[in-house]
Amino acid sequence: MLIRPEMPHDIAAIRDVIKKAFDRPTEANLVDILRDRNVLTLSLVATEGDCAIGHIAFSPVTVGKENSSFKAVGLAPVAVLPEYQRRGIGSQLIEMGLKKCQKAGQNAVFVLGSPGFYARFGFVAAATYGISYEGDVPPEAFMVKELSPGILGDRPGIAHYQPEFQMC
Ligand SMILES: CC(C)(COP(=O)(O)OP(=O)(O)OC[C@H]1O[C@@H](n2cnc3c(N)ncnc32)[C@H](O)[C@@H]1OP(=O)(O)O)[C@@H](O)C(=O)NCCC(=O)NCCS
Repeated sequence: MLIRPEMPHDIAAIRDVIKKAFDRPTEANLVDILRDRNVLTLSLVATEGDCAIGHIAFSPVTVGKENSSFKAVGLAPVAVLPEYQRRGIGSQLIEMGLKKCQKAGQNAVFVLGSPGFYARFGFVAAATYGISYEGDVPPEAFMVKELSPGILGDRPGIAHYQPEFQMC
């Protein structure tokens, strides 16, 4: 299994992986929209041989007032083909995605999802930092991980995903 940035020839296979993982097209459409709008900050594909078996995407999130020195992304979606799930591939996609975001200078990563799942990667409730999501979601489902320690200490506000609602 190899994890690498997506290439143009992966696009159809990525769509297929996401659709099969979620059993609906919504999240695959979201990734296509992000790519079309040039806001797919990071897109990694897990492959086995020539086949795509997993995928993860990150796209921009702003918190409060615009501030060019603060860079954050949202993790969404992450998907692994049903027959490949529970083998650690999703976790490896998340870990590698977080490392690449940090290397690229991102300060924080947000996610909307299951606290039980994302806590293992160091995500905590965004409310801890006084940051809330603009939409109607359970507060504990909106989480964040600092990539620059201390960066969120003085940054309360409302987080905006660009451009779409992204539940993972
Ligand atoms: C979520 C997903 C990407 C995880 O991929 P994976 O390769 O199966 O993950 P791993 O093998 O690394 O880890 C599996 C662990 O994640 C847990 N897990 C998977 N999906 C979860 C979810 N939605 N909520 C809580 N825990 C979840 C499993 O229970 C398992 O826990 P365990 O290790 O304690 O048994 C995959 O299950 C998937 O594609 N699901 C459908 C799409 C989806 O719901 N994506 C967003 C999830 S928030």
